[in-house]
Amino acid sequence: MLKGKNIVLGITGGIAAYKAAELTRTLIKEGAQVKIIMTKSAAEFITPLTMQTLSGDMVYTEMFVPTAKYDMAHISLAEFADAIVIAPATANIIGKIAAGIADDLLSTTIMAADKPILICPAMNDKMLDNPFVQENINKLKKHGYAVMDSAFGELACKTSGAGRLPDIPDIIEAIEALLSPKDLSSEKILITAGPTEEPLDPVRFITNSSSGKMGYALAVASKRRGAKVTLITGPVKLPLPAVDKVIKVRTAREMHKAVLDNFSGATIVIKAAAVADYRPSQFFKEKIKKDNKPLSLKLERNPDILAEIGKTKGTRVVVGFAMETQNLLANAREKLIRKNVDLIIANNLSDEGAGFQKDTNVITIIDAKSKAEVLPKMTKLEAAEIILDRIQTLITGKGKRKK
Ligand code: PMT
Repeated sequence: MLKGKNIVLGITGGIAAYKAAELTRTLIKEGAQVKIIMTKSAAEFITPLTMQTLSGDMVYTEMFVPTAKYDMAHISLAEFADAIVIAPATANIIGKIAAGIADDLLSTTIMAADKPILICPAMNDKMLDNPFVQENINKLKKHGYAVMDSAFGELACKTSGAGRLPDIPDIIEAIEALLSPKDLSSEKILITAGPTEEPLDPVRFITNSSSGKMGYALAVASKRRGAKVTLITGPVKLPLPAVDKVIKVRTAREMHKAVLDNFSGATIVIKAAAVADYRPSQFFKEKIKKDNKPLSLKLERNPDILAEIGKTKGTRVVVGFAMETQNLLANAREKLIRKNVDLIIANNLSDEGAGFQKDTNVITIIDAKSKAEVLPKMTKLEAAEIILDRIQTLITGKGKRKK
């Protein structure tokens, strides 16, 4: 979602300045336009020529260079920016901003900017611990600056602790969050994701191919938009998104319990998980030995979690998914009515680019009046954003809860 966004990247003088090269490449790959300001000290660690080559634009180092469009670079850069990111941010720049000092191009641009600003501190762990630095960081936060926590790990000064530049994907996510509208900030969203596993014996289980990508995309998008997010996840291989609460479950019954335990605190529930409808009736304590005879397994029904919460949803918005291989609309509409949900997100596994494992999905959103909105193939993150838009319309519009 950084496509078309203008980012001013401020680089200050710390050893992590070399990582600004990777950050710039990633921002550009995401579709952002990047203009770079480097302090004099930053240029001791990485050359402006490197950053110019990577950003495809001149690098701003001096205060008094007139640009074609505006008289003063600090004003033109502040106006150009959708967001300003300082990475790495030294104790010096943090202190200068906190004290209201504007004595070079970067600090002056910050002072002239009324845009969202993200500070990514990176320094020695003892410097980071210094009470003045901490006081300054708190002061920036109090004044509305977004300040990331430094990462833990090995530091350039051969010690280990807090003070590393946050990882590039985390910085990108923080920029995405900074630029997202906070229209869901009063919502508490409960999301389920991934498959369930129904054990048969110590080595075997029944499951499906859900990767968790759809549910995790919903969690990331909800968090970006300011919601308090609880993610209940089946076993998946994805890195956990930075949400408020994550509950890991294995079986449908564990997911059932986790959903019911967290249901009363939620204002929105989105069930993207692919829950096993059946489990083996018996769990064999030892591995089942094979012989030459056929083996029959007896299965029993798992609780239908969505149908159960649909009965007691009250003013909550409850959204289900329908995973179909045929008769997409008819089957999805039947689920919407039977499970008493507000929206159902139908996806057909036989559509190219839809369903399990993929980074994309092809969804149709069906509302309580059975109206179907057919959407083209898009990334799961883009689909998540549209689902959240429709939920938001339900909440604020003629829907359930007037704000
Ligand atoms: O995880 P990915 O690889 O990204 O794939 C995404 C997805 C295909 C899993 C996802 O888009 C999706 O369709 N999820 C729902 C899958 C599913 O279980 O569909 P269903 O039609 O069987 O179930 C309908 C709804 O009831 C779902 O919201 C499901 O979570 C819920 N359900 C189903 C059975 C059950 N016992 N309890 C439930 O709550």
